[in-house]
Amino acid sequence: MTDKLLQSLRDKYKNGEKIRILFVCLGNICRSPAAQGIMQSVIDAHGDTDRFFLDSAGLYGGHAGDLPDKRMRVHAIRRGYSLTHRSRKIHECDFDDFDLVIGMDDANIDGLRRLAPTLEDEAKIVRMTDFLRRLPYYDSVPDPYYEGAEGFEHVLDLLEDATESLFDQIAR
Ligand code: 4NP
Repeated sequence: MTDKLLQSLRDKYKNGEKIRILFVCLGNICRSPAAQGIMQSVIDAHGDTDRFFLDSAGLYGGHAGDLPDKRMRVHAIRRGYSLTHRSRKIHECDFDDFDLVIGMDDANIDGLRRLAPTLEDEAKIVRMTDFLRRLPYYDSVPDPYYEGAEGFEHVLDLLEDATESLFDQIAR
């Protein structure tokens, strides 16, 4: 995230304007709905529920309307996160509606850059792993869809680290 973008988010937060964040992955049934649910928990725990608006979406629309993958929901609920988002495909107009558009891996970032209508919109695209603090040596949140339990746990470890740090950067 550029200094300019971070500063604009901090200013919005300080001025009491809602910060709007969209999390994006491929299917919007594993990583991005988990990111949304975990970030919402972080925000709620800080009493900042009304200061943020979160959503998530997928570059592939084949799961539109579905709840998150059952395996993702099972692993998430064990850590206290109830994932109830319904999958949807990202649209160009999402760039108008969100301040920050966060992708999980290289393919997501490439797809988002292709979709961004303007350079200004493209500047809203950031990578989830840029926010890692405790696990800084990872550069993507890998797709767990064809992985076992460890894949889902790894996604949750990365997302917990990145969302806490994202919140701190904006609101602290
Ligand atoms: P996600 O995982 O991008 O983290 O939601 C995936 C889920 C489904 C598919 C790919 C990735 N799929 O191709 O169906």
